[in-house]
Amino acid sequence: MQSILFVCLGNICRSPTAEAVFRHLAAAEGLAVACDSAGTGGWHAGEPPHPPMIAAAARRGYDLAPLRARQLHRNDFARFGRILAMDRQNLRDIRRIDPGGGATSGLFLDHAPGCGFTEVPDPWYSGDFDQTLDLVEAACRGLIADLRAG
Ligand code: 4NP
Repeated sequence: MQSILFVCLGNICRSPTAEAVFRHLAAAEGLAVACDSAGTGGWHAGEPPHPPMIAAAARRGYDLAPLRARQLHRNDFARFGRILAMDRQNLRDIRRIDPGGGATSGLFLDHAPGCGFTEVPDPWYSGDFDQTLDLVEAACRGLIADLRAG
């Protein structure tokens, strides 16, 4: 089965949103793809997503509440086929610990070429949780179409 790991900095805003939205949309389309999320940093490990992120996602029907943050680990490169980064700093950090020979890494928003952004701005700083959801939904739809196309 194909497998995707979504990665941001803290694993409490952007990447858990990507995980939940992707799981929801893939299930609705009958697409069997395993997914998870992680942060390049470990400060929030074990915590649920940021409460305003949970609330904004819930308003669109996505349940982030059961998720718990964890830090990206070298083993993830063998466990997942693709690792998708929310921004370029995440991608640099992912590639710094990549042991090689496993997952391919890239930017999540490469799957949403018309969205006007190449990185998902961090709502931890911007406070714009709906922007996160808009961009994540667009990229998940594009990702699903790209997976279907092979
Ligand atoms: P995320 O947002 O990377 O989208 O989960 C952040 C959450 C927490 C922190 C930074 C970004 N932090 O510095 O604690």
